[in-house]
Amino acid sequence: MEHFHRYSISSGAIAGMSIAAVAGASILAFCLYVGVYGRKKKKEEVVEISTLLAISQHQYVQHRHGITMDKSVEFSYEELAKATDDFSLDNKIGQGGFGSVYYSELRGEKAAIKKMDMQASEEFISELKVLTNVHHLNLVRLLGYCVEGSFFLVYEYIENGNLSQHLHSSGRDPLPWSTRVKIALDSARGIEYIHENTVPVYIHRDIKSANILIDKNFQGKVADFGLTKLTEYGSASLYTRLVGTFGYMAPEYAQHGKISPKIDVYAFGVVLYELISGKEAIVNTDEYVPESMGLIALFEDVLSQPDPEEDLHKLVDPRLGDDYPFDSVQKLVQLAKACTQENPQLRPSMRSIVVALMSLSSSTEDWDFGSSYENPAVVHLMTGR
Ligand SMILES: Nc1ncnc2c1ncn2[C@@H]1O[C@H](COP(=O)(O)OP(=O)(O)OP(=O)(O)O)[C@@H](O)[C@H]1O
Ligand SMILES: [Mg+2]
Repeated sequence: MEHFHRYSISSGAIAGMSIAAVAGASILAFCLYVGVYGRKKKKEEVVEISTLLAISQHQYVQHRHGITMDKSVEFSYEELAKATDDFSLDNKIGQGGFGSVYYSELRGEKAAIKKMDMQASEEFISELKVLTNVHHLNLVRLLGYCVEGSFFLVYEYIENGNLSQHLHSSGRDPLPWSTRVKIALDSARGIEYIHENTVPVYIHRDIKSANILIDKNFQGKVADFGLTKLTEYGSASLYTRLVGTFGYMAPEYAQHGKISPKIDVYAFGVVLYELISGKEAIVNTDEYVPESMGLIALFEDVLSQPDPEEDLHKLVDPRLGDDYPFDSVQKLVQLAKACTQENPQLRPSMRSIVVALMSLSSSTEDWDFGSSYENPAVVHLMTGR
């Protein structure tokens, strides 16, 4: 009994001491927290937390490329105005659906500043913080942004215009066939990167030849993450507002607003048809008939013939003359056809497309997919096996 009594006194004391110890530790931790973090401005804290959240979602990208996070990505209006000579017309290099683009010299580097027609939401800005940390040779780098007055996006400047200009404007030398295949591969790599290496998945949603920029070494770089939306699989955001360009829009997206990486694959297929034919995504079949026809329909008309070879030759960009391996053209046509199928599930993934284009680029004879190709129907289509 005594033993029990003593035991209960002692356990009470232990409990008391434990509570005191826990309470003391909590107070100490609280004081330390206030001491360390309390001195920081509230605004900075918010930014840091959102950045950290973004980093944790994109650890894979961050880790693989050893990105430095302390680099400033927010520019002041004053700095941008100075770099563009007050957004002078002389520095204006283009106009798109979302704003005007200006050439600038910023902190000793050439940059393209896009003055957007709309304002940015908080969510969009935290998304941009992630995008400034996505680095790939075949993606135009987003250097930063500015939200003073208007909303501006600052990109690395790409010297040599866009693919649409190279294919469709007479002022430029025609791109040789091998360069076309290489630019296709470059762009596919850029798109594959955003499809496969960001979590949650990024879908570009505005793949077109005007959004593939060409650098001085004729390397292709996918531009414009201005329209890119962070999209999570299985969420309501799979159905969202239509953005994109007529002539490149996948049917399931145009009709039902359904978004998946396969809408980029579809648009990429249209770009391939452009590379082959030198024609715009929407073509006038006859000067005297104002009706326009999609490039896909033009190719499919020819491909549905029992012996399409002769007419396929006629669809090849006349600016190439006879300077193209027809075998390679046929393979690129087959790839474009696979990409632009009605059923999104039947379209190959960007990863498969990269593998296919690597073969085509290294040797136009050898069209071997390797073991990573996951779609047997398309393997059959490409290899004839
Ligand atoms: N980083 C860049 N470097 C060099 N030129 C650029 C850069 N970004 C855009 N441009 C050029 O500026 C022009 C306008 O681009 P913008 O993205 O505003 O329009 P778009 O691509 O035609 O259409 P969209 O608004 O659908 O993207 C294009 O001709 C493009 O070549
Ligand atoms: Mg663009």
